[in-house]
Amino acid sequence: MEQKTYKGLKFVPYIEADKIHARVAELGVAITQEYTGRNPLLVCVLNGAAPFAVDLFRAIDTDAEIAFIRLKSYEGTGSTGTVKQVLGLSDSIEGRDIIVVEDIIDTGRTMQKLLADLQALKPASLRVATLLFKPEALQCPNVKPDYVGFSIPVKFIIGYGLDIDGMARNLKDIYILNEETN
Ligand code: HPA
Ligand code: MG
Repeated sequence: MEQKTYKGLKFVPYIEADKIHARVAELGVAITQEYTGRNPLLVCVLNGAAPFAVDLFRAIDTDAEIAFIRLKSYEGTGSTGTVKQVLGLSDSIEGRDIIVVEDIIDTGRTMQKLLADLQALKPASLRVATLLFKPEALQCPNVKPDYVGFSIPVKFIIGYGLDIDGMARNLKDIYILNEETN
């Protein structure tokens, strides 16, 4: 694994593909144990969560379904500034056991809004799986991810779905911005 450069910024290896896959397998086992007989619906937040959500879905060894949503930014009129609208949930989630799948939880604002929107659709249960979590960046104390791949420091990360201006999502490993060499 060598250093990568995007947008003139240098990134160094941080979490190798083997370690990611081992952790995803563990999360799959935990979800399998808790959801057997309940047919959970994984709701993948595009674009970043796609690789994680698909790998996690295949690591679940009981009946489960997957759906994909996008969050569209628009300017809110309230004091919250930019908020997001959920696009792409075509089937009802009422009475379903939902697991939202994200690539990263940073401030938690996006997740807080998404959870409120999904809760209004009356699921039986609503939980969150995130590949990465920056606990020190969290500004929404009621956002508590139930399944966390890796807790990481407040640094910029790319790869395995995470992007820099749309690039680097296809890297198999996760890289971190190297502040010393930039
Ligand atoms: N990398 C890519 N996208 C992000 C990050 C990050 O570290 N934090 C929030 N969105
Ligand atoms: Mg994202």
